This record gives sequence, structure tokens and C-alpha cells, in this order.
Amino acid sequence: MEMERPGGLSAIGNTPVVRLAQLAGDCCAEVWVKMEAANPTGSYKDRMALAMIEAAEADGRLRPGQLVVEYTGGSTGSSLAFVCAVKGYPLRIVSSDAFADEKIRTMRAFGAEVELIQSPEGITPGLIPSMMRRAAEIAEQTGAFATDQFNNADMVDGYRRLGEELLEQLPGPPPVSAFCGYVGTAGCFLGVSRALAAGLPGLHRVVVEPAESAVLSGRPPGTHHIEGGGTGQRPPQLWPADYDEVIAVPEADAFRTARLAARGEGIFSGPSTGANLAAALEIARRLGPGHRVVTIQVDSGLKYLTGQLYS
Ligand SMILES: Cc1ncc(COP(=O)(O)O)c(C=O)c1O
Repeated sequence: MEMERPGGLSAIGNTPVVRLAQLAGDCCAEVWVKMEAANPTGSYKDRMALAMIEAAEADGRLRPGQLVVEYTGGSTGSSLAFVCAVKGYPLRIVSSDAFADEKIRTMRAFGAEVELIQSPEGITPGLIPSMMRRAAEIAEQTGAFATDQFNNADMVDGYRRLGEELLEQLPGPPPVSAFCGYVGTAGCFLGVSRALAAGLPGLHRVVVEPAESAVLSGRPPGTHHIEGGGTGQRPPQLWPADYDEVIAVPEADAFRTARLAARGEGIFSGPSTGANLAAALEIARRLGPGHRVVTIQVDSGLKYLTGQLYS
């Protein structure tokens, strides 16, 4: 039996899974999407925020009432702000105006103190490193517990359950042939692909990144607008043995696919989900009927209403 948690924390996980009805035609493999916008802050990051905090509580790295600090594009920050609010930890966030205003407002709504680094041109290769440096400085000055998501192994564990849920939920046949996921920290990709591969030997694991900053494809880092990934660096916990292929999705394709999914499928999401769906459809066309591709709706389109995506 799962542990009972206080307040909204008990609403994390157990999200639905749906099959694309329009975008994947008859000549394609089936495409199934795990609907993670159903989590309390509208993002799969609720799972990892809870995992990072509970693991640090369990081994004493985080003491009652201690300050927590994190650098974040705002999704992890919104989830951490939610978890820290319920559990009574003050939270300081380092983020940027390159990310959705909705996320900055969400962090503040849960009571976090948010500091912004200006980057009006978008997600540049230097942005995440400068946010990381500032968060480390705050931890050093204040003695805060730094969740340090890029280097935190607990957050990968937080996604294992997501993969297990998929194994339990998906009706068979056909079995899942491929899984794809857009990577920032790569926590979700690693946690889910490991859980899926344990039940599905031979699973084809595909990492998704922005074509404009396709470092995993061996290209130079660059500026783009697919929030949550394409940081200009290899995610420190992701090794070549962890994946079988990389698909680089141009941001225009990610944005277009997110809009098509909203209007054609009722799957209302952000740009990184658009990238996931664009990659999943490419794999589905290649595999053809009799196969199944799984990907993830990262978060809700409500987080992106004031930006370019739906304007
Ligand atoms: C909107 C969005 N999409 C995708 C990702 C990538 O997830 P992960 O860090 O698990 O690789 C993130 C992570 O911050 C995100 O915020």
C-alpha cells in the first residue's frame, strides 16, 4: 500500500493515459500519451519534487523548517513550492524571465521567494549555468538545502512510479516498442525508461532535444524556446548507454504539434509536450501498424497562455 501523505501531496501521480485519435493515422503505430498535467501543479515535476524532499528528510540532509534553494525554469520550482508549502519549508528560487510568467507566479502563489536572471532573448547556453551558480551562492551564504536537480539522483527515482503506472495501465496487445522523452535533467526519461525497460526488454529509448540546441546530436548549443530542456550541456546523469536514439525537433515543429494536439486531440500542453508528440509521431510513422509508441504530456497548456504558443 502507498504511504498516505498530507493535503494535496496525496493527489500526485496515478494520472490517465490516452491514445492519439487523430494525429496518428492508420499507417502509423499507436501513440499513447501519459497525461501528467493531471498532477496538482499541472506538471510531472510534482513527482520529482516530492521525491527529492522526502529522500532528504529521510536521511537527514533536510531538517524541519530548513531553507530550501533551487535553480529552475519554473516547473520544478512550482512543484517544489507546492511540496515545501505543505511540508513547511521556506523556499528560495533562482529563475529567469526566459520562462513562462505563469510559472513564476505559481511559485510565488505557493509562498516561494523568487529571484529572476534577465534573459529576454530566450534560453541561451549561458543561462542555466548562471542560475546554478547563483543558487549555489545562496546555499553557501544561508546554509540552505540545495535540491540541485541536475545532480540529484533522488529525482530520477521519483519517476519510476510513472513508468510502472504505464505498464499497469496500457491495454495489450501490441506491446510498447518505443518510448521518447524531451530531456532537461533527463530525470523523467531515465526513471520512466528504466521502469518500462524492466517490463519490456528490447524497448527502443529515444531522447528528444531542440534542433536549435542539439548537443546530444553532436551539434553546437544555441538559443531556443522549448522550455525545460536544451540547456546546451549533456544532462549529467544521462549516459549514451541510457538511450538508443536522439531526435532533434525544431521548435517550430514542437509549437505546431502542441497546437494541433490541443485542437485535434484535446491534449492541452506546452512546447516540450509538442516536441514529445512530434518525435513520437515520427517514430510511429517509421514503425507502422502493429506497434505502440509511448510518450508523455509534460504539463498543462495553462502554463503557457500568455506566451507565444497560444497567442
Ligand atoms: C516544461 C518542461 N518540459 C520538459 C522538461 C524535462 O524534464 P526532465 O528534467 O525530467 O528531463 C522540463 C524540466 O524542467 C520542463 O520543465
